[in-house]
Amino acid sequence: MPKKNLTANRASLAHRINYALRNPGRVPKYMIRAGRDTWLRLRSPDHVSYYRAVMKSDTAANPEAAVGSKSHDRWLALGAMQFDYLKSHGLTPDARMLEIGCGNLRAGWRFIEYLDTGNYYGIDISPDILMAAQETIVRHDLRDKLPTLTPVRDLKFRFLPDAHFTVVHAHSVFSHSPLTVIDECFAHVGRILAPGGWFDFTFDRTEGEEHHVLREDFYYRTETLIRLAEKHGLAARFMDDWEKLPHGQSKIRVTHGSTAE
Ligand SMILES: C[S@@+](CC[C@H](N)C(=O)[O-])C[C@H]1O[C@@H](n2cnc3c(N)ncnc32)[C@H](O)[C@@H]1O
Repeated sequence: MPKKNLTANRASLAHRINYALRNPGRVPKYMIRAGRDTWLRLRSPDHVSYYRAVMKSDTAANPEAAVGSKSHDRWLALGAMQFDYLKSHGLTPDARMLEIGCGNLRAGWRFIEYLDTGNYYGIDISPDILMAAQETIVRHDLRDKLPTLTPVRDLKFRFLPDAHFTVVHAHSVFSHSPLTVIDECFAHVGRILAPGGWFDFTFDRTEGEEHHVLREDFYYRTETLIRLAEKHGLAARFMDDWEKLPHGQSKIRVTHGSTAE
């Protein structure tokens, strides 16, 4: 999959009209989604509650589609891409891993299989997708690896220990998050990240105006996220080698201090 158009503002009226003219077959589906999202947004007090409701609705229809995969083959391939990338960057079985927004373990089951018993910790705002994640553990016969799956309301990590996780991973989570959620994560992730540990996340990149579509998909400039991490005393760098992979999003790595490695 090539990178998305890096300058388009998908929220602008001109873009939406243009898109509808080029893809008339997709308009009814978009209208249904826009209607559902408006309804859910009106009933939700904040973004996390809203997105939890989106996930509940999407998971009821199809958990693999709810995390963004159009087919089981794509679900497998997207998980393999995340796993292979981290392994090529030195992930070892003794790593202590936190996956933020673990979904139904598209990549998580591979991490659980590879890591030492008890070393995988997955959190998500959606109890529904975490129940689907339990099914993935059963399907892949990974009970004995004792993974932990926990629902969360925020990204403050208050219940997790200091300097514990050597790898923190968030794939396709900040692409669904307003800046306030990312800011909260950056404000607290340094406390739970072990010395020498790293936090990788993907994001939908724009080189034009930052925008969102239906408050489901958020587009950020790289500098915005790097500066935000730096504001919290973290170092951040754009991962060029991820750009070569067939994935629409980009990746940033965050570490302690001022020199990201
Ligand atoms: C597109 S799915 C990706 C799931 C998984 N990372 C993967 O690659 O298969 C996004 C996941 O992030 C979760 N999520 C969204 N915002 C979150 C937040 N602020 N904190 C934790 N999880 C979040 C959603 O519930 C959903 O399971």
